[in-house]
Amino acid sequence: MSESDKSMHSGLLAVEGVWWKAIPKQEKLWITIAFIWCLILFAMMPLWHMRGGQNPSGIRAKVTPAEYVERVERFVEDYKVGEDNGFPVVEPPAGAHIYLLARMWQWYPVLKLKKNTKYILHLSSADINHGFSLFPLNLNFQVVPGYDYGLKVEPNQSGDFRIICNEFCGIGHHTMVGKVIVID
Ligand code: CUA
Repeated sequence: MSESDKSMHSGLLAVEGVWWKAIPKQEKLWITIAFIWCLILFAMMPLWHMRGGQNPSGIRAKVTPAEYVERVERFVEDYKVGEDNGFPVVEPPAGAHIYLLARMWQWYPVLKLKKNTKYILHLSSADINHGFSLFPLNLNFQVVPGYDYGLKVEPNQSGDFRIICNEFCGIGHHTMVGKVIVID
């Protein structure tokens, strides 16, 4: 076969290249490093779930919206301490189960909590999906009708916090703002 035949690159002739030659040392080293890094990242997923302290350890239960609304009303009756813009302000005792209701387009009621005190915060919706987003902190949870999501919480900052709905829920979505007050 002459040189000119080789350069024609028909499908029958293999193109000259390097892929079948031994991998250079440096490339081998980088492949090894990349592979080990992949394994580390893979291991971090379950490890960080257990150790990272950033995943909610929630209690989940099914509940009908009507049952949940009733439960919230009972909670408000038990621990109401005042009013804010027509919304009841509720101050539950330490360790209490606290109930927050999302509905078009409000968060009900206003919660008054103590700093460094443990509570179990229940979230659910009376109608459609909403998103619980605590500002200015970066805390986000889905609020789903039919499910009661109980989160172990312990406020570590005092102040006035806003609950913003971060799940589009219709025409009044942008007005759906609630309040949590944390006192020292
Ligand atoms: Cu509720 Cu958006």
